[in-house]
Amino acid sequence: GFCSSVCVEVPSETEAVQGTDMKLLCISCMKREEVTASTVVEWFYRPQEGVKDEPIYEYRKSNHEFPSRFSGRIQWNGSKDMQDVSITVLNVTLNDSGIYTCNITREFEFEIHRPLFQSSRLIHLTVVEEAGEDFTSVISEIMMYILLVFLTLWLLIEMVYCYRKVSKAEEAAQENATDYLAIPSENKENCAVPVEE
Ligand SMILES: *[C@@H]1O[C@H](CO)[C@@H](O)[C@H](O)[C@H]1NC(C)=O
Ligand SMILES: *[C@@H]1O[C@H](CO)[C@@H](O)[C@H](O)[C@H]1NC(C)=O
Ligand SMILES: *[C@@H]1O[C@H](CO)[C@@H](O)[C@H](O)[C@H]1NC(C)=O
Ligand SMILES: *[C@@H]1O[C@H](CO)[C@@H](O)[C@H](O)[C@H]1NC(C)=O
Repeated sequence: GFCSSVCVEVPSETEAVQGTDMKLLCISCMKREEVTASTVVEWFYRPQEGVKDEPIYEYRKSNHEFPSRFSGRIQWNGSKDMQDVSITVLNVTLNDSGIYTCNITREFEFEIHRPLFQSSRLIHLTVVEEAGEDFTSVISEIMMYILLVFLTLWLLIEMVYCYRKVSKAEEAAQENATDYLAIPSENKENCAVPVEE
């Protein structure tokens, strides 16, 4: 195209709110514009670790949706150049949480050989009941306040401590001066100041 953008492999969002449409982002920047390539995309789903992957969607020259509990709820959301091979799951339910796998097989059509490249992306999706404030942002806000209070206290303690240390040092210095120099201050002044006539 006349407006070929730079391909960046952004990872997918991993949290969705039930009842909304969730785009499962899968980007694979393997294609080079000057080389023809055919791409096959397979999307799988498994509810949890250790369970068999179930095919839910396929793109192989044309789009194909497998009969599954996602039937009728998956839309192709990829780009024309097949760098972005994302799908969107409509109206997600809490049951749609799980592991989605996006497998891409690309066959490059060079003159003499046709190398195959495969890549795979995993998306651990969590569907939540409602959009609350992001838990991590709440935590970091609380942490920020704790840190602020702590820093203020620490600063105060440090100031008091320093003040005490300085005044003690001053006292000690004065004591030292009076104890060991044994020169009365008037005398000292008299000695130090040259007599001008
Ligand atoms: C994803 O698909 C929906 C509906 O097909 C469309 O409205 C939307 O623009 C698409 N988004 C992207 C980024 O392709
Ligand atoms: C979304 O799914 C719920 C339960 O599966 C259903 O009751 C609701 O009508 C659906 N909403 C849309 C917009 O399809
Ligand atoms: C989720 O799955 C369980 C068992 O597969 C089913 O009983 C339940 O109705 C499902 N809930 C929704 C909201 O689809
Ligand atoms: C997806 O691709 C990866 C890496 O090529 C492979 O290990 C995995 O078995 C594939 N998944 C499925 C369900 O075919």
